[in-house]
Amino acid sequence: MSFKDHIDTNKLPQHIAIIMDGNGRWAKKQGKLRMFGHENGTQSVRQTVETAAQLGVKNLTLYAFSTENWNRPKIEVQTLMKLLISSLKKEIATLQNNNIRLNAIGNLEALPSKARKELTHVIDLTKNNSHMVLTLALSYGSRDELLSAIKTISVKVKNNIISPEKIDESVINEHLYTQNLPDVDLLIRTSGEQRISNFLLWQIAYAELYFTDVLWPDFSKEDLYQAIVNYQKRERRFGKTSEQLS
Ligand code: FPP
Repeated sequence: MSFKDHIDTNKLPQHIAIIMDGNGRWAKKQGKLRMFGHENGTQSVRQTVETAAQLGVKNLTLYAFSTENWNRPKIEVQTLMKLLISSLKKEIATLQNNNIRLNAIGNLEALPSKARKELTHVIDLTKNNSHMVLTLALSYGSRDELLSAIKTISVKVKNNIISPEKIDESVINEHLYTQNLPDVDLLIRTSGEQRISNFLLWQIAYAELYFTDVLWPDFSKEDLYQAIVNYQKRERRFGKTSEQLS
């Protein structure tokens, strides 16, 4: 039996976001260095991306590197950046074969120029793909994103480009890194931690949260299917009563 058989493909979450956590612990459990966990984490990234696309999920967003991750030991940051570059190079075919458009959110200016260059290159190569949007959150922090949106909107108010009364949710949405993405429907976090860690705070307002103890390098197709089945069993009320929904 596969959880896949229980998925209603007409009711897929439009946007799945994942906090990929537990690479370090996975490596430590085997007496290996943390980087071994990150390297194996890239296999889970590839498999999750392919599985989501094959199911028909339209938007997948992965928390690959947070603003706080810059505080990790220099050697880990460097190796993560190298992994990002090599994965981008290696996975062009995966993206093209599955008609996936690559997108990135975060303070991309902060990335080493080699990483930024490769990222821009693959974003450009895949810009006409239309089956799924894969967004990598890199040097991303939600408070950072909200602050920069507030600053930009404030300048527009000051310069009479927008009046304060006109500021509504859609104006905020348009000034976020995620401007062209729908709200998150399902947020998954691996490794047993139950927190949001500064990820998409505005965009997850009505998301269903799914926490699993599985460490990211062990996250399999079945784990993704199971998360979607669990999501589909929930009643999303958006503040309404059950009776109003039926
Ligand atoms: C969290 O595990 C994971 C990260 C900070 C990085 C995620 C990176 C990858 C999955 C590999 C590279 C990604 C791409 C998109 C190429 P952790 O190190 O916090 O684990 P721990 O909590 O067990 O220490």
